[in-house]
Amino acid sequence: MNLLVTGGCGFIGTNFIRWLLTAADFTGKIINVDRLTYAGNPENLTDIEKKFPNQYIFVPADICDKDKMAAVFDAHDIDTICHFAAESHVDRSIVAPDDFINTNILGTFNLLEIARARKARIERFHHVSTDEVYGSLGQNGYFKETTPYRPSSPYSASKAASDHLVRAYHATYGLPVTLSNCSNNYGPYQFPEKLIPLMILNAVDEKPLPVYGNGKNVRDWLYVDDHCRAVWDIIQQGSVGETYNVGGNCELENLTLVEMICDGIDKKLGRSIGKTRDLITFVKDRPGHDLRYAIDAAKIKTDLGWTPETEIKAGIAATIDWYLENPTWVTRVKSGAYREWIARQYATV
Ligand code: NAD
Ligand code: TYD
Repeated sequence: MNLLVTGGCGFIGTNFIRWLLTAADFTGKIINVDRLTYAGNPENLTDIEKKFPNQYIFVPADICDKDKMAAVFDAHDIDTICHFAAESHVDRSIVAPDDFINTNILGTFNLLEIARARKARIERFHHVSTDEVYGSLGQNGYFKETTPYRPSSPYSASKAASDHLVRAYHATYGLPVTLSNCSNNYGPYQFPEKLIPLMILNAVDEKPLPVYGNGKNVRDWLYVDDHCRAVWDIIQQGSVGETYNVGGNCELENLTLVEMICDGIDKKLGRSIGKTRDLITFVKDRPGHDLRYAIDAAKIKTDLGWTPETEIKAGIAATIDWYLENPTWVTRVKSGAYREWIARQYATV
């Protein structure tokens, strides 16, 4: 397999590449294409590059660049695509949606066109999407693969558009696509703008922990390695043209989750239990804030035998440990220091 991974220097892409090469039965080649936005850090994979020189290649490129991407497909004889690259943060999409439209919609369209032109060679185009395309649930019910799309934010609307394009390329051109719509991921290497790493790092520094609104919004938390296993299962065994919802079976109100993190930090740093909770600060709500996400993951369980394995308390403890054990990564990411390294290393990006 010559596997093109887009966005492999981001949170989930990094974990996916590491997992494939160190924990799964992957024997092919991975070509990681990433534009190295603020969220893309190639330092995440420098050890992998050294350890697997015959199986891993990094190509700095923008998925919107038609000529460059076509050249990558041809140079590496790409037969399988796992498409993670995206602008991924809802709050940024509210402030500045342009990049979301370009990367998430036009970038995906570009990859589909390049794959279509090489259809005979393509075995699978897997598109990684989000449960946020379904919009908000009330107190009851679950997102199924058949739930109508009703995105609320520019981020989720751009992901919804990309999902429609991917399905259309299967229906119209017979491109062998699969899609996954997953819930909120957490784990190592997540950029500290998202809820869990932001709370961990602020808690360590004894800074305020900003909870939007009343903290009663519900998310379904999925440990990133469980998600990586689901994506690989779908690429290997999923049926062409199908969508699979992937969830952690772990619904929590934001406030409950933040309190769990606070207590984990107290335990880890030897603070008196309850001390870190004093940092919780309720702030103005996010506009268009979806109340509740919850995934019905019955299809992937029945069809592919996948279920999430990581229990939330163990996953949060492992995530806290990772952030505490990697202060250099944290400092460099927070200060943007790795961007200077990128500029030296990849002068043309
Ligand atoms: P991330 O923001 O951490 O990483 C995105 C990566 O894509 C970065 O490395 C960035 O440099 C790269 N990228 C952005 N624009 C690019 C472009 N034009 N060309 C090439 N590379 C580009 O995101 P993530 O959390 O790892 O999410 C990965 C995928 O999973 C996204 O498609 C996202 O919508 C989806 N997803 C994420 C979550 C989550 O909880 N993180 C949940 C559901 C779905
Ligand atoms: P986030 O990690 O941004 O993921 P998403 O918006 O894609 O679900 O946010 C998760 C939840 O946490 C969401 O309900 C918004 C909330 N939140 C806060 O309360 N405070 C914060 O500082 C952030 C970043 C998020």
